[in-house]
Amino acid sequence: MSDSCPVLSCDRIVKRYPGVVALDSVDFTVLPGEVHGLIGENGAGKSTLMHILAGANHPDEGVIHLDGQPVTFADPRDAIDRGISLVHQELNLVPYLSVAENIFLGCELVSQFGFIRSHEQNRRCRKLLADIDATIDPTSEVNRLRVGQQQVVEIAKALNTNTRVVFMDEPTSAISDQEVESLFELIASLRRSGVSIVYVSHKIDELLQICDRITVLRDGRLVQTLSRADADQDTIVRLMVGRQLEELYVHSDAQRSQQRLQVTSLQFTRKNATRPTVDDVSFSVQGGEVLGVFGLMGAGRTELLESIYGLHPSQTTATIQVDGQTVTIRSAEDALRHGLGLLPEDRKRQGLILGMSVEQNISLSNIAAIERAYVLSARRERELAQTFVKQFAVRTPSVSNRVSTLSGGNQQKVVLSKVLLRKPRVLMLDEPTRGIDVNAKREIYALIDRLKQEGMAVIVVSSELPELLGIADRVMVMCEGRRTAEYDRPEMNEELLMRAAVPGVDVHG
Ligand SMILES: Nc1ncnc2c1ncn2[C@@H]1O[C@H](COP(=O)(O)OP(=O)(O)OP(=O)(O)O)[C@@H](O)[C@H]1O
Ligand SMILES: [Mg+2]
Repeated sequence: MSDSCPVLSCDRIVKRYPGVVALDSVDFTVLPGEVHGLIGENGAGKSTLMHILAGANHPDEGVIHLDGQPVTFADPRDAIDRGISLVHQELNLVPYLSVAENIFLGCELVSQFGFIRSHEQNRRCRKLLADIDATIDPTSEVNRLRVGQQQVVEIAKALNTNTRVVFMDEPTSAISDQEVESLFELIASLRRSGVSIVYVSHKIDELLQICDRITVLRDGRLVQTLSRADADQDTIVRLMVGRQLEELYVHSDAQRSQQRLQVTSLQFTRKNATRPTVDDVSFSVQGGEVLGVFGLMGAGRTELLESIYGLHPSQTTATIQVDGQTVTIRSAEDALRHGLGLLPEDRKRQGLILGMSVEQNISLSNIAAIERAYVLSARRERELAQTFVKQFAVRTPSVSNRVSTLSGGNQQKVVLSKVLLRKPRVLMLDEPTRGIDVNAKREIYALIDRLKQEGMAVIVVSSELPELLGIADRVMVMCEGRRTAEYDRPEMNEELLMRAAVPGVDVHG
């Protein structure tokens, strides 16, 4: 394969933004029928490179070649027509439209009288989905689908009969293990039919599992393209961060203080649901302790955190005590007042205002902190933002940049800054390292450990077992809304946690 002519390639691509060189003379090739992994720290330039190669962005310098011929894509539509398509880092579906309507959005089939030919759209959509072995009903509303299924629709949208290269930007960051498996099958079948896939992920094991070649980007430069045979975990990490990384997980024992948070019999039932999503869950966390919450997709972990935080007051019943006091939390305001902090799972929707600057986003929910000592001063706002940007190594030319111009992972660090600025006593983190590169992950683990040392109680929901095993003092497992097991650090291991998380397995058997 290595001697075949590239389908798509670029020479010396340069892309500059105010204050950053996003891509610095990058040469990149895509061979026919290969799965090509792209990895690098947050802000390394992965999304930018993909956007440029798929017509969604234009380079300042450099040339793109399609089948050896120079080409300029006017826009994504133009690229799709020539067989190049992009699946975005963020899902871009319209929630209240059907699957078929989403797939045909912008290129609807219209009858001679100007009506949308829904039947025909549904029929073609059904065929398209069947071709990629997806069992999704074309007529169902997108917001009724699981995230993994939405991801498949997103991919289906990018495919047509002459597709030659598909760019996928972190497609697995929000989907469950099972769904990852079916995505990989889909990738394998596309590859067999000669389609090339360029795949961005922060998960090195995934890249090693599916890629023929792996390219590492660092600070906008292409560091190296490795063949599968030369690629291994250590090499990739070293190329990414430019040095040997210390131990990834950070954990130390801390002085335990009193019970910071005690939750008794929490029940959360969605409107019109026949059974509760969180079913009679009780637990407690001490200051100086990190409690991990493990479970599969749909186990009720996110809903547990949200209910504690007061986001579903009319559907939740529970007794909640903070530092020994029984409290009533019926809104996020109540939660904040009682010292709870939540890093939400869906940060785009819940955590950030993309059109506002980094500093405005950080200070947004923190007006009180700024007002206390000063009348809301622009200088104070900026100082606070700068402190956090520095502490988390948020990669942005300045705190006055709009959040929308930051790379995905850097946007997440901004949300985390927002939450921490409130100095919560109980910190609840929902998938805190999703979409975050290894280096930044380590910074977040170190931070969690430090906050624990300072007496905070930390709850971490994660789907990554190694992560919980690495940083938690204790792990509670949930399955189908119930608390099925709990293990202390010395006794917990991957197998025990997994057994307790899978429905139908007898934990004590
Ligand atoms: N529209 C824009 N305006 C200004 N700067 C931008 C814009 N888009 C990207 N950048 C900057 O270009 C750099 C590369 O960003 P890019 O999104 O390509 O990173 P990435 O490798 O995809 O990161 P991540 O892993 O976090 O998704 C970053 O410093 C980012 O802030
Ligand atoms: Mg990106």
